[in-house]
Amino acid sequence: MSQQFVGINGEQTGLGFTNRDQGAKVEEDQGLIDFKIITNNGNHERMKMLIDLKNIFARQLPKMPKEYIVRLVFDRNHESMCIVKDDTKVIGGICYRKYPTQRFAEIAFLAITANLQVKGYGTRLMNKFKEHIQKQDVEYLLTYADNYAIGYFRKQGFYQEIKMHPDRWKGFIKDYDGGTLMECYVHPSIDYGNISDLIREQKQLMIDMIKKLTLNDRVYPGIEKQNYKMETSNGDRPAVKPESVQGIMESGWTIEDYNELKKQKEKTFMISCQQIIDTMRKHKSAWPFLEPVNKDDVPDYYDVITDPIDIKTIEKKLQNNQYTSKDLFIKDVKRIFINCRNYNQPDTIYYKCANELERTIDDYLKKLKDESQIPGVSKKIKKTNNK
Ligand code: ACO
Repeated sequence: MSQQFVGINGEQTGLGFTNRDQGAKVEEDQGLIDFKIITNNGNHERMKMLIDLKNIFARQLPKMPKEYIVRLVFDRNHESMCIVKDDTKVIGGICYRKYPTQRFAEIAFLAITANLQVKGYGTRLMNKFKEHIQKQDVEYLLTYADNYAIGYFRKQGFYQEIKMHPDRWKGFIKDYDGGTLMECYVHPSIDYGNISDLIREQKQLMIDMIKKLTLNDRVYPGIEKQNYKMETSNGDRPAVKPESVQGIMESGWTIEDYNELKKQKEKTFMISCQQIIDTMRKHKSAWPFLEPVNKDDVPDYYDVITDPIDIKTIEKKLQNNQYTSKDLFIKDVKRIFINCRNYNQPDTIYYKCANELERTIDDYLKKLKDESQIPGVSKKIKKTNNK
């Protein structure tokens, strides 16, 4: 079969990447079902088939007046494509009317007998119908789809947006309140009868092309557990060197890009922390915490507070890159308030200043915690890379 291209999502050309009609196609290939075009030509056997089809329509489209169904099915301007099982039994079909001068056809009724629905016959029927109608120089299909059947028609490439110029179809078909007008373009060079094979071939072609461009199909075993399980004396787990992990270098990863990204993240972290420090410093309640507590002024302070901290010390630690994680920075800021409340009584000005400053700065700390940069992680990897 020659290679043909349909739209990448299939639906542009009314197909979808579905193999839905495969079962019915196999039955057709085995001669178990056939698709027959039937008109009211007086032939006894054909009339019987039209009656069977009319009965399926009447049962499956209960809202449609029965007389109307009879009128159209037996109207000589209408034709029907029937799915015939075992040469005699009609299991579904389409009743339609062609407008040759306008190069479109209207689907009046479409149904599959109740116990055989959602088995692919409806899709196969539509594909066979398109294959047939394509040869009659029909360019578009129109139908008033029952609201329950819009999903089905959508999957067969019907759209509510009507591309045909109104002059071509208005006045030719009757308006119908109970349904949604939908249109399908019948592509002149698509092999609708073999559409599933065509799509499968296209899909395979795309997969082969993608495979040539990506390494996605290469799967390596995971990292050996013992390579990272050992604990060092300080409790850190030694991180695995990224370049030693199979597949990392192949994926285009470079230590230069990584370091650049890490630098950017660390810079963002530094800026965020510095902003918090500046905000604290400017606050009207920050004055007791700007500098370390003077031992001469408060002789017993360092006996009570064993882990002192202040805004100036935090800034110095930040500049010396001592904050390897957000948590360490946040912990230090929080310690200013904890120390203050431990040393001072609740009715003191210091205690109140700690509460006030904390209230303001808490939002900034929360924001910092939510930011995606994680200097702690990069630090660990940095250690490894420098090994
Ligand atoms: N609503 C939404 N999706 C549907 C419907 C529906 N009513 N019927 C089928 N589908 C879906 C199927 O799930 C399937 O999707 P999938 O490929 O993603 O799995 C796809 O459409 C095709 O399924 P088929 O098995 O090929 O369809 P089926 O053989 O059931 O035929 C038909 C569809 C003709 C709508 C049938 O269900 C039927 O006779 N329904 C009752 C009568 C009816 O509603 N006819 C259309 C009225 S509009 C008109 O006549 C102009």
